[in-house]
Amino acid sequence: MKALVIGGAGYIGSHMVRALLRADHDTAVFDNFSTGHREAVEGLKVYEGDLLVPGDIDRALQAFEPDIVLHFAARSLVAESMVDPSAYYANNVCGVFNLLEALRRNGPARLVFSSTAAVYGIPVKRRIEEDHPTQPINTYGWSKLFAERMIEDYCRSHGLRGVVLRYFNAAGADASGEIGEAHEPESHLLPNVLRVAAGKSPKVLLFGNQHETRDGYGVRDFIHVTDLCDAHLLAAQALERQDLPAFQLYNLGNGQGFSVLEVLRAAEAVVGHNIASELAPARAGDPPVLVAGATRARTVLGWNPQFADLNRIIASAWRWHQNQRY
Ligand SMILES: NC(=O)c1ccc[n+]([C@@H]2O[C@H](COP(=O)([O-])OP(=O)(O)OC[C@H]3O[C@@H](n4cnc5c(N)ncnc54)[C@H](O)[C@@H]3O)[C@@H](O)[C@H]2O)c1
Repeated sequence: MKALVIGGAGYIGSHMVRALLRADHDTAVFDNFSTGHREAVEGLKVYEGDLLVPGDIDRALQAFEPDIVLHFAARSLVAESMVDPSAYYANNVCGVFNLLEALRRNGPARLVFSSTAAVYGIPVKRRIEEDHPTQPINTYGWSKLFAERMIEDYCRSHGLRGVVLRYFNAAGADASGEIGEAHEPESHLLPNVLRVAAGKSPKVLLFGNQHETRDGYGVRDFIHVTDLCDAHLLAAQALERQDLPAFQLYNLGNGQGFSVLEVLRAAEAVVGHNIASELAPARAGDPPVLVAGATRARTVLGWNPQFADLNRIIASAWRWHQNQRY
């Protein structure tokens, strides 16, 4: 299979590229390096371009002629999306529209798309299955929901076959230690905890301890980036199955929630010392609990996460943080 990974220089995309290459797929990257890292794609086939410039993605599709496109490129900072919605609708909605039109012009008619639990908003059930109502509470979530809707419509009417994967919290790093999570600014809990552990930052802020949860801290479902990539490989296979619909949608999470404080304590156990933290006010738009129901991915795709254990997730991320290349 020939796979084009859009956003392949970013955190999850760079892991996907490795997973595809290890499975012997001819793989190329399309990226504008706005948040991605050149070091993460050294030596690989790279088309540098911007999805907001339709000619760029046309050229990459025509030159590489992929069988499938995996789309990871997005803006994904919740707080930023609330102060600069235009940037989010441009990249996450217009960017996807440009891609869908480029796929119509140039093929391939196969797409796997990174969506997010943020499309659900405040959960009304403890475990979020795919039929949970979608009521985003931030522009990031809305931008992803609009993109999902476009993909569904193109699958219905324009001959596309697409899979939308709604991730909960991606975490961890590749076993090689060569690539890992490096966002700037970093809004995710685990890398911020480990930055402090590695002496690169003085303290980690814990947002809110008055939630209605077992210890008052927010609860999240962490999924190892390697397990996430496995699900994408299975999704690519599912696109070839004629017994499955042209548009498919799956949650990806482990179905187990850990509080912010539990993550901090688990990280202290992994690194072997205390990690300085400070309580900060809860952030607007942060749901107290987000835990996935991913039964559909397990039963239909046959997905079976191998690194669900929180300590293993943290240990892999810690290996990367101790020897971070970028
Ligand atoms: N990290 C998570 O926990 C998480 C959770 C849910 C969903 N997601 C989604 O997964 C995807 C990947 O997330 P990530 O954490 O790897 O993000 P990231 O910022 O590390 O990677 C995004 C990549 O896309 C590139 N890019 C952005 N806009 C582009 C454009 N217009 N043209 C070309 N390239 C562009 C960036 O340079 C970067 O390499 C995103 O769509 C995100 O919304 C991530």
